[in-house]
Amino acid sequence: MSKEHWLKSELNQLNQAGLSRSLRSVMTAPTGRILLDGREVILLGSNNYLGLSVHPTVIEAAATALRIYGTGASASRLMSGNSHLYTELETKIARAKGTEAALVFSSGYLANIGTIPALAGDKDLILSDALNHASIIDGCRLSPATKQIYRHCDVEHLESLLSQSTKCKRRLIVTDGVFSMDGDIAPLPEICELAERYDAMVMVDDAHGFGVLGETGGGTIEHFGLEDRGVIQMGTLSKAIGGLGGYVAGSANLIDFLINRARGFIFTTGLPPATLAGASAAIGVIRSSPGLRQQLSRNVLLLKNALLERGFQLLPSQTQILPLMLGSVEVAARFAEALLEHGVYAPAIRPPTVPEGTSRLRISVIASHTTEDLKTAITGLEAARAAT
Ligand SMILES: Cc1ncc(COP(=O)(O)O)c(C=O)c1O
Repeated sequence: MSKEHWLKSELNQLNQAGLSRSLRSVMTAPTGRILLDGREVILLGSNNYLGLSVHPTVIEAAATALRIYGTGASASRLMSGNSHLYTELETKIARAKGTEAALVFSSGYLANIGTIPALAGDKDLILSDALNHASIIDGCRLSPATKQIYRHCDVEHLESLLSQSTKCKRRLIVTDGVFSMDGDIAPLPEICELAERYDAMVMVDDAHGFGVLGETGGGTIEHFGLEDRGVIQMGTLSKAIGGLGGYVAGSANLIDFLINRARGFIFTTGLPPATLAGASAAIGVIRSSPGLRQQLSRNVLLLKNALLERGFQLLPSQTQILPLMLGSVEVAARFAEALLEHGVYAPAIRPPTVPEGTSRLRISVIASHTTEDLKTAITGLEAARAAT
């Protein structure tokens, strides 16, 4: 079979299963309303939870750095791509996370696929939640350690696996802090207790918690008050921070170790200086503007209560991620299509992103949604339900 013939037949199979993906063109900044393929729609699929990608302080900081340093880093951080702006950003992340140090990677994906295999090698054991993000799964795949998947948020199952793990050298428990497609929060106090009892490391992916959870927006660890438990805190600068990049926060030894061992850190180009300056400014805004988090909470309550009152089947999320369970791939695709026809964009999430039979709409609420945006969204969701 020729290459083109093979590619075509693979694409046809995806199409027939309702699983093909395609790109849409966003022509404005990712706020509550966007121009999508030239048409104005309400956006319910953004991770720009606090609207910081368009915050004037953040834009100004990024623009200043852009003018001074230009567009790119030109090399990996260990070569000549280590802008001095990293120091300020990493200090701010460590302070926000309550850790000794932090290390910025060029994306959250790279942070996970770099850190997990560095921490867990031959003869080690990784225990990973069944609903962890794909970048954690890929990080696990890159490690020669034994992997065991525990049922989602099930600490009894986790304990039973830990209690049988006597033969391995080291144990690493890895979990999303806020689950990206379900919006629930990992039972971290119980996980930390088990980790102490069974001498395991804990790594939490706080991609959807940083900026949003905790008194000062420090994330899932601050939310639970677990700053003194030595948890390895990974996360991303691409969601509530509004930019790009990943990080790991922890002890100074951990950070030195990752600089030497994390391939996803070593073998990629540093971030553009404007991105670093923008992220530093955004973390400053998060700490100085609790009003943004309060606005987000009000918006989440408004939309969530309205949908529950109208009988929509939402998963029991505790955060700004509101999954509307639809079940089959076909129903989810039809619902998303009908919703878009009514001027609201929330993409359908299908396998392999979520397990078979649990296709859904991943609705994400952001602080920049106006009450009017949310009312239009509710009307659109009702109309899509009626049409599906
Ligand atoms: C839970 C989780 N971890 C990691 C990532 C990857 O982060 P990034 O987009 O910075 O590569 C994402 C985002 O896609 C995510 O949702």
